[in-house]
Amino acid sequence: MGTVIAFANQKGGVAKTTSTYNVGVALALAGKKTLMIDLDSQASLTISAGMEPYDYENTIVSVLDKGSTPISRCTHELQPNLYLVPSRLELAQLEVVMIGRPVRETILRRAIAPVRSLYDYILIDCPPQLSILTINALASADRVLIPVKTDYLAYRGLEQLLDTVAEIRDLVNPQLTVLGVIATMYEMRVKDDREILQLLQEKYSVVATVKKLAAVKKGVCDGKAVMEQAPTNDAATEYEKVAACIMEKGGI
Ligand SMILES: Nc1ncnc2c1ncn2[C@@H]1O[C@H](COP(=O)(O)OP(=O)(O)OP(=O)(O)O)[C@@H](O)[C@H]1O
Ligand SMILES: [Mg+2]
Repeated sequence: MGTVIAFANQKGGVAKTTSTYNVGVALALAGKKTLMIDLDSQASLTISAGMEPYDYENTIVSVLDKGSTPISRCTHELQPNLYLVPSRLELAQLEVVMIGRPVRETILRRAIAPVRSLYDYILIDCPPQLSILTINALASADRVLIPVKTDYLAYRGLEQLLDTVAEIRDLVNPQLTVLGVIATMYEMRVKDDREILQLLQEKYSVVATVKKLAAVKKGVCDGKAVMEQAPTNDAATEYEKVAACIMEKGGI
């Protein structure tokens, strides 16, 4: 049975999508069959993977819509061992409809169930809100990874996310646990960043620290993960560390 991992943080721009994609590629390169699900109407993960959202009819929208299309029909192969369920803008409208449905928290969990045994890992890229979509991701997940920028407001936003995780665990998904925090966009020269990283390390389990580096950004417009275009880059090593942590401690 594949482990489902949500990359979640209600704060915007903390590298959820970048982390999902790079960890997905790292797991695939390590020989693990990995499915990534783009759960954000901005479709950033879809674009990062080099796909054009409007070229595809079968997306996460068809999976979550009433009379849902099986997720297997909305899954696209990116490279050996790496698969993606893409997103598109209409997911924003669907969200409103989802809120009106009974048992709305487990729509994604029920959709994933038939394919769980086909993959080693299923990674979910969450949108930047504690919306019904993020709740669906947390209700489906065995583990949560929390990308967080090394700045004070991002640090302060973590408690709210952890409260939500605890509530989902109590109410709908008892096996949900936090695998750890990925410190992102770290700038060692900046004193604030060093202090926040230390606070994060004291309070949470920091599985990797990814520096703010041009190579990470460049990978997005090239449709390539950092370990593919710059294998010796520090960010590549850190994302491989996250993948190793998942393989070591992420199992269920
Ligand atoms: N380590 C890094 N160094 C430099 N730039 C980075 C790094 N990680 C991410 N970025 C850039 O920061 C921006 C935000 O990253 P990303 O889209 O992954 O965040 P997000 O949390 O998914 O955002 P959103 O909340 O909008 O979904 C992107 O332009 C990305 O290329
Ligand atoms: Mg994103």
